[in-house]
Amino acid sequence: MKAAVFHKIGDIRAETVADPAIEQPEDVILKVTSTAICGSDLHILNGFIPQLQDMVMGHEFMGIVEEAGPGVTKLKKGDRVVVPFPIACGHCFFCSMGLSPNCENSNPEKYGPEGDMLKGKGGALFGYTELYGGYSGGQAEYVRVPYANFGPRKIADSLSDEQVLFLTDIFPTGWSAIDWAQLQGGETVAIFGSGPVGLMAQKAAWLKGAGRVIAIDPLDYRLALAKRVNNVETINPDDADPVELIRQMTNGRGADVCVDAVGLEAERSFLDKVKATINFEKGTMKVLENCVKAVRRAGTVTVVGVYGTPFDNFPLHTIFDKGLKLQFGQAPVHKYIDELIPLVDEGKVILNDILTHTLPLTEVSHGYDIFKKKEDNCVKIILKP
Ligand SMILES: NC(=O)c1ccc[n+]([C@@H]2O[C@H](COP(=O)([O-])OP(=O)(O)OC[C@H]3O[C@@H](n4cnc5c(N)ncnc54)[C@H](O)[C@@H]3O)[C@@H](O)[C@H]2O)c1
Ligand SMILES: [Zn+2]
Ligand SMILES: [Zn+2]
Repeated sequence: MKAAVFHKIGDIRAETVADPAIEQPEDVILKVTSTAICGSDLHILNGFIPQLQDMVMGHEFMGIVEEAGPGVTKLKKGDRVVVPFPIACGHCFFCSMGLSPNCENSNPEKYGPEGDMLKGKGGALFGYTELYGGYSGGQAEYVRVPYANFGPRKIADSLSDEQVLFLTDIFPTGWSAIDWAQLQGGETVAIFGSGPVGLMAQKAAWLKGAGRVIAIDPLDYRLALAKRVNNVETINPDDADPVELIRQMTNGRGADVCVDAVGLEAERSFLDKVKATINFEKGTMKVLENCVKAVRRAGTVTVVGVYGTPFDNFPLHTIFDKGLKLQFGQAPVHKYIDELIPLVDEGKVILNDILTHTLPLTEVSHGYDIFKKKEDNCVKIILKP
């Protein structure tokens, strides 16, 4: 089959690889009909999340069941499904609490309580390095989906792939960032990053009752899209200090909630890069620092942007003095997806208005290139195997 294969930093290409096969009774083999490129994939492409061997990429995908293992009771050949990006068993301590990215069974080699850089990681993720289970991903013609009684969700034929594909990751991720902040109604929510994840967090903020939604991003074309599809206020941090502006917009207090939808690959200066190298840090925590500064006292900062190393000078004193609540992590997609599918089905939210490019899987290298460089007004790419 054809698949997008990661070889080394900067090198992802469409190639012919072996077809996947059923390995466990609860596996299905999915014929992928649509798959997307994610900001999280860029961390692998750019070497921020290490991967030393070849790997089929992709954790955002949907398709049609081609073959079901003997233990699969909930799906049969021909069913059309979307698949949450965490691989989770459905019955361990964490899965039972709705915390699927911490599944105790899906990542036996590297899992542990430590959450360290190279060991004691969380549960597995599709196409997301040996650290997260070493599973082949779904930027491919076919993919093996383990724990198929727990992960895949059937989708009505009346909904197109484009309408529902972003339920695999970015919409539940944006939703997590807002749900974690437990809005009561009327809050000002400032969302750093207006990429696919930030755009989804903007939608979630309105749906959950925010009074104001502010998008911060250095890319004007992404702010323009945010304004057009999500009716948000916008700040370009290259034009003015976003922290000062957010305070000015909120009677000097700061936003009730700040969301970091950027993570470690935020824009940074040469000096930032030198400092990071000396400190063995990967990337920067500049956006997290801005969230801590721009949030009001006793407010909430939620972090869905990815971080992979410790950072010196983490602003512990500010977090304590202001009495902040913080929540971080991979999105527990399994927990939210069943309440999100009806929102799409009933037209209460539109997800594919952020889609800018649809490419054949064979053009995956080009897709990664324009998504990484933010060229051609690229926001979100769907690949068709
Ligand atoms: N927690 C999860 O479950 C989860 C799921 C999906 C993605 N993610 C992560 O979310 C992050 C965003 O993903 P994406 O697909 O939207 O990626 P993306 O790279 O398309 O978007 C990041 C955006 O941040 C902007 N940005 C850069 N520096 C900034 C700054 N200083 N202030 C404000 N904005 C800045 C960029 O211009 C870009 O628009 C990534 O770290 C990704 O790994 C996490
Ligand atoms: Zn993703
Ligand atoms: Zn589990």
